[in-house]
Amino acid sequence: MISSKDAVLGNVEIAKDTYEMILRPTKMPNILPGQFVNIQLDGFMLRRPISVSSVYHNTYKIIYKVVGEGTKALSKVKRGQILDVLEPLGTPFPIDELEEVLIIGGGVGVPPLYEVARQFCDKNTKVTVVLGFNDKDSMFYEEDFKILGCDVYIATMDGSYGTKGTVLDAIAAHDIHIDTIYSCGPMRMLEALNQTYSKGYLSFEARMACGIGACMGCVCKDSKDKQLYYRICKEGPVFPIGKVDFTC
Ligand SMILES: Cc1cc2nc3c(=O)[nH]c(=O)nc-3n(C[C@H](O)[C@H](O)[C@H](O)COP(=O)(O)OP(=O)(O)OC[C@H]3O[C@@H](n4cnc5c(N)ncnc54)[C@H](O)[C@@H]3O)c2cc1C
Ligand code: FES
Repeated sequence: MISSKDAVLGNVEIAKDTYEMILRPTKMPNILPGQFVNIQLDGFMLRRPISVSSVYHNTYKIIYKVVGEGTKALSKVKRGQILDVLEPLGTPFPIDELEEVLIIGGGVGVPPLYEVARQFCDKNTKVTVVLGFNDKDSMFYEEDFKILGCDVYIATMDGSYGTKGTVLDAIAAHDIHIDTIYSCGPMRMLEALNQTYSKGYLSFEARMACGIGACMGCVCKDSKDKQLYYRICKEGPVFPIGKVDFTC
């Protein structure tokens, strides 16, 4: 992990309240799929954790939704500004040797899965992607995943695009039977997937303070040993499916 001054090369709205930002660190670190950065914003005590959505030679992209004052301030950052960023953080998704994989993203859980899909496609793994959003206006990256060569299915809660309902409704509607999943999204979605699948990885987005494993502000319990705790920012955010207890 390094503390970096990253130049903002772009910051544009790509869907309702959803922005894509391109950052160029002074020295590009090795960022793996599923890792996140922690961004300092003027006037805010705590940094804001955001997943890296894609990595290039000397730049990377993040995609974030404006949900409060911190992300609102981030949306106002202009091209050319410099951000103080801790990067990269967390344990990544392992890109295992697989013939096929099902990638399932919900809302702002979708961004880290783009780099996951890209790396699987580079290895000639067959990639099926199911993305869930509240409505059509909130949807993003359908085309980007298709360009990688993925089969892409969309679910919207209000039925304004794709299958009406959740990602599990879309999986049932399209008769998708792939047993290994890589997923990131809201807790309720992850919990439902945890009950449905037994192979793969889930990435969690807990509230965080330090983001570097020092404050214990983001702990969750092991699913079997209730005395065993994991820091989502350090041992996670990516965990093998079945490892984390959803009752805490
Ligand atoms: C490892 C990790 C990766 C993340 N990646 C992304 C990403 O790629 N794109 C993205 O848009 N967001 C991502 N988030 C969530 C993002 O960090 C929060 O939305 C952001 O910090 C909110 O800051 P704020 O000041 O705008 O909102 P606040 O004023 O802090 O909160 C506004 C609302 O959002 C809720 N909220 C805040 N933080 C979180 C959180 N971490 N998880 C769930 N709900 C939260 C609050 O409960 C409140 O209702 C990630 C979080 C983590 C921990
Ligand atoms: S946020 Fe401090 S330990 Fe995870």
